[in-house]
Amino acid sequence: MLDFIFKPKSIAIVGASADEKKIGHAILKNLITQGYTDKVFPINPNSKEILGLRCYPSVSKVGEDIDLAVIVVPAKVVPSVVKECGEVGVIGVVVISAGFKETGEEGARLEQEVVELVKKYGMRMVGPNCLGVFNTEIGMNATFAPDIPPKGRVSFFSQSGALGVALIDWAIGSGFGLGKFVSFGNKADLNETDFLEYFGQDADTDIILGYIEDVKEGRRFIEVATEVAKKKPVIIIKSGTTEAGARAASSHTGALAGSYRAFTEAFRKAGIIRVEGIKELFEVAEIFKSRKFPTGEKLLIVTNAGGPGIIAADTAEKNGLKLYPLTKESINFLVERLPPTAALYNPVDVIGDAPSERYLLVLEKAVFDPNVDGICVILTPQATTDVENVAKVVVEKAKKTEKPFVCCFIGRPKVKQGTLHLKQNDIACYDDPVTAIKAYSKLVYYAKHKNRGEDEFVRFPIPDEVKKEIRLILEALRDAGVTVIGEENSMKILSLYGIKFPKRGFAKTSDEAVKIAEKIGYPVVMKVNSPNIVHKTDVGGVKIGLKDEKEVREAFLEITINVQRAMPSAYIKGVNIYEMVSGGKEVILGVTYDYTFGHMVMFGLGGVYVEVLKDVSFRIVPISKREVYEMLSEIKGIKLLEGVRGEKPSDKEDLVDKILKLSQLVEDFPVIKEIDINPYLVKDKGGVALDARIIIG
Ligand code: COA
Repeated sequence: MLDFIFKPKSIAIVGASADEKKIGHAILKNLITQGYTDKVFPINPNSKEILGLRCYPSVSKVGEDIDLAVIVVPAKVVPSVVKECGEVGVIGVVVISAGFKETGEEGARLEQEVVELVKKYGMRMVGPNCLGVFNTEIGMNATFAPDIPPKGRVSFFSQSGALGVALIDWAIGSGFGLGKFVSFGNKADLNETDFLEYFGQDADTDIILGYIEDVKEGRRFIEVATEVAKKKPVIIIKSGTTEAGARAASSHTGALAGSYRAFTEAFRKAGIIRVEGIKELFEVAEIFKSRKFPTGEKLLIVTNAGGPGIIAADTAEKNGLKLYPLTKESINFLVERLPPTAALYNPVDVIGDAPSERYLLVLEKAVFDPNVDGICVILTPQATTDVENVAKVVVEKAKKTEKPFVCCFIGRPKVKQGTLHLKQNDIACYDDPVTAIKAYSKLVYYAKHKNRGEDEFVRFPIPDEVKKEIRLILEALRDAGVTVIGEENSMKILSLYGIKFPKRGFAKTSDEAVKIAEKIGYPVVMKVNSPNIVHKTDVGGVKIGLKDEKEVREAFLEITINVQRAMPSAYIKGVNIYEMVSGGKEVILGVTYDYTFGHMVMFGLGGVYVEVLKDVSFRIVPISKREVYEMLSEIKGIKLLEGVRGEKPSDKEDLVDKILKLSQLVEDFPVIKEIDINPYLVKDKGGVALDARIIIG
């Protein structure tokens, strides 16, 4: 528990200054003027008293317990201060000072020195290079932001201090209450996962917001976030998500992955709500304040204006929400009571001159209607609209149902009071239907995650001898400095984990090729076998549909000549001969490795065209059965696998089986970094892999 950071009983400010222009002055002033009532010790060897408080030359001279030390001295002095803190038994330090890792090698060394001291004395550290910490509940502002927002049950962690200052100001300006805040800067010790865990356990926090640029302990982050997100919504902005920094990948799977994907998948796995910008962060947080979650995707829109109703309906559809009409019984009730011009389907349009009673009629039915999981109330302030009464009607109805409401009161002065009344009662109200519906869709996304049962993880029994065999192959390859494993070994390893390949053989001469082809049975496929060639088709190294001895001999010659011409330096071992497999649908099964979150499994449609179509889905390993089914249903071309124009459907269970096996393979052998099985031919029963490549590292 990090209570010593967020609820310290005593705080020392090392570098407290009488100079009003200095940060050490601002923090001390914030601490003693904004409601913090516990002990504050200014530390500065040059002053006897600052802001009316006795000042101590060093922490060792305080003579009382210090829970937290906020350090605001130049970077080079920080190690000696931290050491002294450790010696007198300080529990936590917040290092505001900049001049560490962010400045280069020298700074990184200094940071390391500080981390080692923190560890040595069993302390915990926020920062360095950070804005600090506040907790509105106890009026503690240990940051140099001039004010703190009103009290609230939303807590916030931020990697960026500057953004933190802006957000604090925004929250103050919008009257948005916050509970605890921390800016953790270089996160040399405590990082996002620690604060996520703490806020997750914090009884005063209902909603967690975060801003992160990267994640330090990817696996732990997912584990902690998954637990926390089951209890409370976690809404995060992740910046730095362009693919500019993505490494050049040598596999199809790797080329289609990248850090944006990895974060998307990590957030999905954990049930984190991802938002793109600051405004959206608070907008989305607003809708979670009611703490009511829809049990499904059916949304009813009730409006007094056609246009905004249509905009809302369009946005709802784009975001996967379902607009069902009310039940017959509800419609019959409304037909008798609403004017004939009212639209009774979804959106229900109560018409521009609607008084609050018309809204009430619709809401009365909607809260009991099984075709409604949540309600969106739209209002435009027309001449006869009694805005405040509509707001009151919504609040009254919302109190009596577990179905969530989202409101959209469009305008400014005329809707101000109504909007305020809604917000005071924890009902989110926006001035744009798109914003309202998008925020509502995040509520639905989160509710699905929260209501999901425990995931089922399958483990296939793999005999120890099989594992040993694979380990020996991998070790031999690694010792030989191989990273891209050739087709033969890749097929061998994958076969041992249950991936089927066509019958095959290897020939060094055309005579051998004929013998093998006859054993396999015509027609056959021939591919060059060379450790230097990754894309065999591009160099004329593949021949298919060879029907007899003559064609096999010709193909042997052609392949060797083509490859020699295209890549004179390539070492040609010989030619592989395969059973010709036909029918089925081409898909790709792959694995890639992300430096933050580890292995990700990929499934996609299109086989060799996968990079053009980009119709792929990813999940982070280990993957559950539910996740595999989601992967399959997520791709746009899923209908093709379900069978079109009378075709038999492809064997989905075979794909599920193979994807789970790949997930288990890389879990068992983490040295495998990437796998491409491309194409994999999935048939109406079973499937067969036509090509495979493994990369180790
Ligand atoms: N113990 C206690 N006080 C000490 C000290 C020590 N070992 N060593 C120095 N001090 C005092 C100084 O005498 C000074 O007090 P004074 O005003 O009475 O002379 C005070 O600590 C501050 O030191 P000073 O050298 O004046 O530094 P500063 O106030 O100009 O700057 C920082 C200090 C930490 C603010 C500055 O180095 C810095 O890092 N700024 C950037 C902060 C930042 O942006 N952080 C990230 C935000 S997101």
